[in-house]
Amino acid sequence: MRNLVNILDLSTEEIDELVKVASDILENPDMYSDSCRGKILGTLFFEPSTRTRLSFTSAMMGLGGSVLGFSQANSSSVSKGETVSDTIRMVSAYSDIICMRHPKEGAPIVASHVASVPVINAGDGGHFHPTQTLTDLLTINKKKGRFNNLTIGVCGDLKYGRTVHSLISAMARYEGIKFILIAPDELKLPDYVKEEFLYDGRCEYVETRDLEAAIPELDILYMTRIQAERFDSVEEYERLKDSYILNAAKLATAKPDLSVMHPLPRVNEIDVDVDDDPRADYFDQAMYGRYIRMALILMLLKSKGNDDRLAGAVENRALRCRNPHCISRTERGIKHLFDGNRCIYCDQTAR
Ligand code: NCD
Repeated sequence: MRNLVNILDLSTEEIDELVKVASDILENPDMYSDSCRGKILGTLFFEPSTRTRLSFTSAMMGLGGSVLGFSQANSSSVSKGETVSDTIRMVSAYSDIICMRHPKEGAPIVASHVASVPVINAGDGGHFHPTQTLTDLLTINKKKGRFNNLTIGVCGDLKYGRTVHSLISAMARYEGIKFILIAPDELKLPDYVKEEFLYDGRCEYVETRDLEAAIPELDILYMTRIQAERFDSVEEYERLKDSYILNAAKLATAKPDLSVMHPLPRVNEIDVDVDDDPRADYFDQAMYGRYIRMALILMLLKSKGNDDRLAGAVENRALRCRNPHCISRTERGIKHLFDGNRCIYCDQTAR
């Protein structure tokens, strides 16, 4: 059984295939309207969501399938203390494929280990969000027509922004990509993302605090929300929340074919006066999410094989993951697994 826990679970060839199928569904939706007749998608959202949950629901309905699940942890037995593993075992028996969002980093890995159906990560804490990246990739394909030779500005909360971590890992695989990482010092990209995807000349990148200076060079500007819910201190969030506000005036120096993207929801970081600019692609981006998720559901329901990433991992009783948001800190009964000293669940380095 195949899962999508990390965007790198998909090869670039598989991403091309998903983009092709999603584009075909966009053109010929009626041809796919019965493809998942009799199949059930379980949508388990332990954290709030609008676009991701509704686009998954709409995707499965558009394929003729049905959907069950919950949109809040407090409406499920999690509020009674049930583990992720137990919840997933049950839902595996009630559905053919599961998408889940969870505040703990690595929760989808725990889920995919016990599930008897494919598991899709719809966002795990501040870690990864691979289906948002698929949405972003379809948008880049439609707006730019290529995945290589692009200068991509990523602006905002690069520390907690899971969409950014998955986007960088996906795009770093293509030729001629340059990232301009625009963030306040407190919200810079975490080392584990840099180490894995950018260091050692794997991909060109620069870090800056200055959005306006970066704008003229960009082919894509990916704005992100400061992730209020991941801050330990309200004061720190209040201080940083308006770090960047893109408006029409700031776009005056941008390339005429810049693509402004945002996973949404936006708070203040893109002024509404940008919405009428033909370079504002974020609402199209949200629309594409439905079609790439349709293509993904079709692919995972068809694919055979097994990608259980815990299979080869080594238990190290001497190490404990120090990341307070890692699932290994709260889930009862799971092994503490490491690759060297990198936690298998959240990718952070244990000391
Ligand atoms: C993102 C998320 O949940 O990480 N939203 C989404 O899925 N489109 C971005 C965010 O919440 O800032």
